[in-house]
Amino acid sequence: MYMRVYVYTFNHQLNPMYRTHHCGELRISDAGKEVKLSGWVQAARDFGGMTFIDLRDRYGITQLVFNMDDDAELCERARKLGREFVISATGQVRERSNKNPNRATGDIEIEVKAMDVLNASKVPPFTIEDDTDGGDDLRMKYRYLDLRRSPVQQNIIFRSRLAIETRKYLADQRFLEIETPFLIKSTPEGARDFIVPSRMNPGQFYALPQSPQTFKQILMVAGMDKYFQIVKCFRDEDLRADRQPEFTQIDCEMAFVTQEEVLATFEGLTKHLFKTVNGVELPDFPHMSYDEAMRRFGSDKPDLRFGMEFAELNDVARNKGFQVFDSAELVAGICAPGAADYTRKQIDELTEWVKRPQIGAKGLVYVRFNADGSVKSSVDKFFSEDALRAWGEKAGARAGDLMLVLAGEAEKTRKQLNELRLEMGRRLGLMQPGDFKPLWVVDFPLLEWDEDTERFYAMHHPFTSPKKEDVARMLSGDHETMKALRADAYDLVINGVEIGGGSIRIHDRALQERNFKLLGFTPEEAEAQFGFLMGAFEYGAPPHGGIAFGFDRLCAVMNGQNSIRDFIAFPKNNMGRDMMIDAPSPVQEEQLEELYLKQVGVEEKKG
Ligand code: AMO
Repeated sequence: MYMRVYVYTFNHQLNPMYRTHHCGELRISDAGKEVKLSGWVQAARDFGGMTFIDLRDRYGITQLVFNMDDDAELCERARKLGREFVISATGQVRERSNKNPNRATGDIEIEVKAMDVLNASKVPPFTIEDDTDGGDDLRMKYRYLDLRRSPVQQNIIFRSRLAIETRKYLADQRFLEIETPFLIKSTPEGARDFIVPSRMNPGQFYALPQSPQTFKQILMVAGMDKYFQIVKCFRDEDLRADRQPEFTQIDCEMAFVTQEEVLATFEGLTKHLFKTVNGVELPDFPHMSYDEAMRRFGSDKPDLRFGMEFAELNDVARNKGFQVFDSAELVAGICAPGAADYTRKQIDELTEWVKRPQIGAKGLVYVRFNADGSVKSSVDKFFSEDALRAWGEKAGARAGDLMLVLAGEAEKTRKQLNELRLEMGRRLGLMQPGDFKPLWVVDFPLLEWDEDTERFYAMHHPFTSPKKEDVARMLSGDHETMKALRADAYDLVINGVEIGGGSIRIHDRALQERNFKLLGFTPEEAEAQFGFLMGAFEYGAPPHGGIAFGFDRLCAVMNGQNSIRDFIAFPKNNMGRDMMIDAPSPVQEEQLEELYLKQVGVEEKKG
């Protein structure tokens, strides 16, 4: 008997004291079995002589039946159960007369013979069902209740499977999982650091890592060869649907590799994850240079689920007497398929949309390539039908399409047209959730000019290697040459979302010093911040490179969703607050003093 229980427990990993099966398990073939289930009361329905309870756990929902005629006292107790009470029930599986085809267990029910209330529950502040009535803040405050809802729970289960498959794949490729510290010195990745005061070192601070970048490079110097980590990163930046102040990366680094091997390894990982977790076979990923992506889509993360590529119209649209175009650096358009029948009202509304400050276009020119072959535009005064047809040819317009044209300064116009393209993609339903279009964007610029501070910043990060052929030109000093420098840097983009980014690194002290100089660091500043890394480079640093995937973003994109919050068990809200534990929060005066964060405290201790 003991032995049988042991084997049973082992096979099902369930403790028979509480349950012999879980709530998503029983089928018609189990009819007649004596079983015990434990879970939460999802719903109760009382029909006088009979009481039905939907019992829920992580695995599903099973219907329990209490019959007044069989056991009046038990039935009375069942009637008193509230939503979210935790109970265990013993009884017999039987076929249901009124089957529920939408539920895996919908063919059966449990005729309950005994029931224990394991814990009561207050009335939950929102309904714990797939579509809840709870607002965002309320659900964040009671996150443990929100997490009981099946869609949220499925997201967390998905995330867990993705993490496990990531470990399996990378372990198979002989990557080592190595932890790096969270209390570090600031690593510039473009965002602000979260800082942590040090009690033992008055007036000094740690920074939480924006990424383990410098540590993983040092692990390569240390001979670890292939490193990975599924790791928390911290960035104090403004939040959006795809950004959290603490988020997770699949962070990797490899020694003795070229860009091609890094891309092949992580394309392999991505394909493995899509196959094992989503059941989707991805074809080989196309590669596109940064310049080409900007020219064709006005974005370094184009959504390739739909076309609407940019058509540059300078040679056919300028110098025809239309002042707006004549004075523009770039005239460019996209062709919205099948949208020629957009009403005047729709086009006016779209014009207002591009003129909003977030987009900033001055106006919108349209050309209707009507289904009957006629052509009509908002600039008929300046352009003949033939001239407009020449635009259409450039954009590959077909009868029934609507061409939308913007003009102005080249860089700005491309950005605006990118926004318009995405908006039209949304409006025309061209971004299908089950469709996945991955893309490697390669050959990023090394540097990015910032108008406000009038200086160059590293486009990826300061440890990124320039392309070999560009090294010699690195210190020419002239602005245009600097802008044209290219790096061995790459991004993985899926459906218009930047999933990951990485680069081949500088592994030579002199070149790293040169790069810091370009970025405006004095030798002293470079030494103070990164002396440890440049020092390590002097002790036999191997050539190396790597990448980091945004793990939360990968979860969301694989599920066709935009918001990463739903894939994080305990996310922060838009103000960076954890509503459940109410953080951040003030701390005790004494804590501040102990940390030397009160001037008086510092003086007293010094004294
Ligand atoms: P990078 O800064 O591009 O590179 O970050 C890598 C990926 O992390 C994700 N990501 C975020 N996800 C959620 N919330 C955020 N606030 C957030 N910020 C970034 C993105 C991004 O592509 N050390 C380098 C990698 C390397 O060079 O190996 C790095 O961190 O998906």
